[in-house]
Amino acid sequence: EKGGYDYFMLKEIAEQPGAVADTLLGHFQDGRIVLDEQRMSDQDLRDIDKVFIVACGSAYHSGMVAKYAIEHWTRLPCEVEIASEFRYRDPVLDRSTLVVAISQSGETADTLEAVRHAKTQKARVLAVCNTNGSQIPREADAVLYTHAGPEIGVASTKAYLAQITANYLVGLALAQARGTKYPDEVAAEFRQLERMPEDIQKVVDSLDPVRGIARELAGSKSVLFLGRHVGYPTALEGALKLKELAYMHAEGFPAGELKHGPIALIEEGMPVFIVMPPVEGRGVLHSKLVSNIQEIRARGARTIVIAEEGDEVARPLSDYFIPIPASTTLLQPLLATIPYQAFAAEVAAARGYDVDKPRNLAKSVTVE
Ligand code: M6R
Repeated sequence: EKGGYDYFMLKEIAEQPGAVADTLLGHFQDGRIVLDEQRMSDQDLRDIDKVFIVACGSAYHSGMVAKYAIEHWTRLPCEVEIASEFRYRDPVLDRSTLVVAISQSGETADTLEAVRHAKTQKARVLAVCNTNGSQIPREADAVLYTHAGPEIGVASTKAYLAQITANYLVGLALAQARGTKYPDEVAAEFRQLERMPEDIQKVVDSLDPVRGIARELAGSKSVLFLGRHVGYPTALEGALKLKELAYMHAEGFPAGELKHGPIALIEEGMPVFIVMPPVEGRGVLHSKLVSNIQEIRARGARTIVIAEEGDEVARPLSDYFIPIPASTTLLQPLLATIPYQAFAAEVAAARGYDVDKPRNLAKSVTVE
């Protein structure tokens, strides 16, 4: 049943091209983005003036990625909130607020309670969920299903990439309803998403060097992950994977925050992962990250850099260079996250831990 893989997680990492492709399937019809279930009117969708994304763990990171796309495409303010914090701080919600609840299982208690709170305040709820018939989509006003298939490994991999994909469809559906993007622009964005599985496959096929790096660094005490823009949630996801699977201290930071404190953590030989923005976004962000890398190298860190294969500026600054295919900035997390998944799984295996069932964790957290 593991299809020749040692762990379900490795099989699920390999299934990511299909998870993304299947999540897109059927969502662009007659030139329009369509959701799976919509129990609210098109007018309601048009009237939305603010978006809150609520989720936990990896689903939360997928929401952080989505914020960049949603604000850029729709010009709606979009806040991303840890579901367990949301209802306890009296968020400002009304009938023109859209609350997007992201949950692989659809049963996460914190996310479900956030949804229920949003509904008491008359907000509209859209669920992004991987499990048909689960509670969160049942209580939502609209649903977009991810089609990652059942995910057995406790650490989210294919569901995570499928969530980013579905979140982008939500963004496009909102942009379409509000008219902030022309139909041909929406179509072009969708086509770009449709081309991603091919590049995701290339990354999946080139993970052996990442596993080698993981075995070399498996004895590390602490690992840092840095990124900017969508590279920041990618850093958080990299750190979460390593914590939950390898029980290794790991932190993700927005690279610009380094000098405001975290740089004090850098010690001789400490592994630091960095995702470089794609060439498309080169310029300010790219050069800022180059300076960040120089700062941490000057303090003796070992740099593991994930960057486009053609990024000849980043390559010489890397102790380890992990090339990924070129992409747009917004789509880069669909590629850059994959080496982090493989790295965490391999470190865990090298340390003798159960990759599919990390200690203290449940696949679906149904208590608040
Ligand atoms: O089922 P959900 O998407 O609501 O689960 C949310 C988190 O519990 C989940 O993503 C968790 O963080 C994973 N173990 C991460 O790999």
